[in-house]
Amino acid sequence: MEKSYNILFENNKKWVANKLKNNPQYFNQLSKGQTPEYLWIGCSDSRVPANEITGTQPGEMFVHRNIANMVVHTDMNLLSVLSYAVEVLKVKHIIVCGHYGCGGVLAAMGNKQYGLIDNWLRHIKDVYKIHHVELDKIKDETERGRRFVEINVMEQVYDLCKTSIVQNVWAKKEKLHVHGWVYDIHDGIIKDLKISFSSNEELPTVYQFDN
Ligand code: CO
Repeated sequence: MEKSYNILFENNKKWVANKLKNNPQYFNQLSKGQTPEYLWIGCSDSRVPANEITGTQPGEMFVHRNIANMVVHTDMNLLSVLSYAVEVLKVKHIIVCGHYGCGGVLAAMGNKQYGLIDNWLRHIKDVYKIHHVELDKIKDETERGRRFVEINVMEQVYDLCKTSIVQNVWAKKEKLHVHGWVYDIHDGIIKDLKISFSSNEELPTVYQFDN
């Protein structure tokens, strides 16, 4: 029986051939290095492929994905990606992109146990707790889920800005913008939540480090 993953190798060969047809030097040029302008922090959901939905090519976007696009400030993986992206690659924009219908966010809204992942979902439940007055008022569960997705993105944007990594870039007066977006898996459209930050002064005082 043919292994189902063989299609991936076949697709890869076609992709390589197509790239080389358009530009024989394509891989040669890419191999020299990367200077992406964006860091994408998105959900692992297979329906939200960062490059495809933004029309970006290899080399244009540094990507970190986890369940429900979380910025957990004790997550060494996230911190390492963030540090490398802003300090070495000097990305100009960090985008936290959530998506409506996010399984992680919806699971965090409920009371069912899922196993180990519950420890990850706890971070999302903590977001609910901060905004429970607004969220509890929304009786329609789908609507509440959609709003929770937006609020979760908003909190992850704040959490990014609170990191010493982002604040140190701003302290050096280097340009860095942090954005919050939501992708709608129902129509493919990305919505800008218009909660962009670009300096320390926009943060609540308690999180601001002295320069
Ligand atoms: Co998701």
